[in-house]
Amino acid sequence: MVTPPAEKRLSHKKLERNVSLLGLFALVAVAIGGIVEIAPLFWIDNTIEKVDGMRPYTPLELAGRNIYMREGCYTCHSQMIRPFRDEVERYGHYSLAAESMYDHPFQWGSKRTGPDLARVGGRYSDEWHKAHLIDPRSVVPESIMPPYAFLAERDLYTGDMQNDLTALSRVGVPYSKAAIAAANDDVKAQVDPAAGIDLQKRYPKAQVRDFDGNPDRLSEMDALIAYLQMLGTLVDVEKAAPQDQTAVPAGPQEKAR
Ligand code: HEC
Repeated sequence: MVTPPAEKRLSHKKLERNVSLLGLFALVAVAIGGIVEIAPLFWIDNTIEKVDGMRPYTPLELAGRNIYMREGCYTCHSQMIRPFRDEVERYGHYSLAAESMYDHPFQWGSKRTGPDLARVGGRYSDEWHKAHLIDPRSVVPESIMPPYAFLAERDLYTGDMQNDLTALSRVGVPYSKAAIAAANDDVKAQVDPAAGIDLQKRYPKAQVRDFDGNPDRLSEMDALIAYLQMLGTLVDVEKAAPQDQTAVPAGPQEKAR
């Protein structure tokens, strides 16, 4: 057999000197890597492990979340507790992926001027939140958080909740047709225990009460406090991720003691 002369074969030298050929082969190499990473995602239903207790936001919580984003609270607060000892001791169990599965967009954040809020629900009373939002220095004298007193003076606009839920259902949040149809009423029902709407049936663990201390008015303050008070309260994290957090290996200081 006669081997073809060196310049006729596809030598690496030829590949390196011909930019079109190099580009083509580079594309093929990258495409293989890309397919290996992406293709499996087409055959699994969900990339997030399901956990018990997770449910979509109630319309009022969602309205509060919208205010949270409008006011840029996320520029100072994160909502993701990382699995490090200092964070877990300060904020509670580290965040699970499923806990933000209905967040569009998510509020994880990478900068903390203020504390993480992923598990702030239930840590303070509604009155504390109201006083803190009206004048942070009244409850935390050294606070640098800006005041949001105007939220108590603004009526919550409730006419859009059906559209809001519809938009979220289009990106995969499991709101039922009935939940969407009732959204504009549900938003008011959550601050009015006398309304006679069984909100917990649609939204388990929904907290129904007047949040801003003014039962005559549905204010933006009501919505924001309703949102803050539910953060991190839906999932029983110890059951969902049964790791023994006390088993974190002791740091060098502890070993020395
Ligand atoms: C300029 C940065 C900044 C912005 C913007 C900001 N905060 Fe804060 N926040 C802080 C700081 C600093 C603290 C810690 C001191 C304190 O408690 O006031 C704090 C504390 C808090 C706490 C108490 C958390 C805890 O665990 O003690 C809550 C709740 C809170 N902020 C909610 C909000 C909400 C809601 C918004 C938007 C309406 C907001 N923050 C906007 C800086 C900010």
